[in-house]
Amino acid sequence: MGEVDPAFIQDPEHRPKLSITEAEGVPLIDLAPLNAPDSFSDPKAIEGLVREIGNACKDWGFFQVINHGVPLHKREKIETAARKFFAQPLEEKRKIRRDEKCVVGYYDTEHTKNVRDWNEVFDFLVEEPTLVPASPEPEDKEETQWFNKWPENPPELREVSEDYSQEVEKLSLKLMGLIALSLGLPEDRFKSYFKDQTSFIRLNHYPPCPSPQLALGVGRHKDGGALTVLAQDEVGGLEVKRKTDGEWIRVKPTPNAYIINVGDIIQVWSNDKYESVEHRVMVNSEKERLSVPFFFNPAHYTQVKPLEELTNKQNPAKYRPYSWGKFLTHRKLSNFKKLKAENLQIYHFRVSE
Ligand code: OGA
Ligand code: NI
Repeated sequence: MGEVDPAFIQDPEHRPKLSITEAEGVPLIDLAPLNAPDSFSDPKAIEGLVREIGNACKDWGFFQVINHGVPLHKREKIETAARKFFAQPLEEKRKIRRDEKCVVGYYDTEHTKNVRDWNEVFDFLVEEPTLVPASPEPEDKEETQWFNKWPENPPELREVSEDYSQEVEKLSLKLMGLIALSLGLPEDRFKSYFKDQTSFIRLNHYPPCPSPQLALGVGRHKDGGALTVLAQDEVGGLEVKRKTDGEWIRVKPTPNAYIINVGDIIQVWSNDKYESVEHRVMVNSEKERLSVPFFFNPAHYTQVKPLEELTNKQNPAKYRPYSWGKFLTHRKLSNFKKLKAENLQIYHFRVSE
């Protein structure tokens, strides 16, 4: 990626500001209380933590965690292997290019809101195979399986990725437990939705960009799944739209921390108590950047709707139920084209008031 092709250029109102507002506000949460044995069976021990998580979900939709239990060496291994993979020539990487039959693998022409992103990605599924609907058509009941595409090089990428994903999955389940408690629900309330998960991990590589004021690494968007657990390197570039005033706030890299954000599904489950927040990635002209998000997604047959325990006459469900599998396949398959229309969004399922 040399010169900036017009496909990458954002409309003026979406271009990044070059003066950076660093996040004082995105909460940093210490998960150490969870590391005590049986912490979840001692409500007192994690009471403060549950309150912090609840406030962060409500006020920001984003937070960082430390003492999260994911071993540092596993994170370093996947990051090193990812850098080796992206350092290869484009022809090598394109050998495992994503296509309509296999929606994971390498991709370097991702669009967000129809503007090309200044990045290249490698996606892999956490469950192999992952069971999904064969098509986004609501009447089509056929199911299919998705399989991963691993590159020849570096050969260790597969093993370190599988190892890493197990650790991040454990962290994600703990976080869902805390989120459930913060909503006044039992700790294991969300657990069964993830039994046949459709989660995937993305390796994001952002090369230096000659015109960082015109393009974005990833354009503004919300994450469509339940929860995102993101590792970013020391370069930084992730910006979050602050709920109080709509300002774009940079999430300052904290060594070895994870950035957690609420996705659209939690927004629907919580009936808008915890909103999925817009974010984007700025690039810079000097440094490349690597990030590794884990997208924690439920089974494809999950009907996503506001939880009954959280709705009543005074607070009726704000969304109609929708099929997660159909939503996911719609998103994944539409990624292949530059769409004329807007992508599928949860507000399409909103009940009008
Ligand atoms: C994403 C995303 C942020 C980052 O891939 O959905 O928001 O920092 N990535 O790379
Ligand atoms: Ni995102």
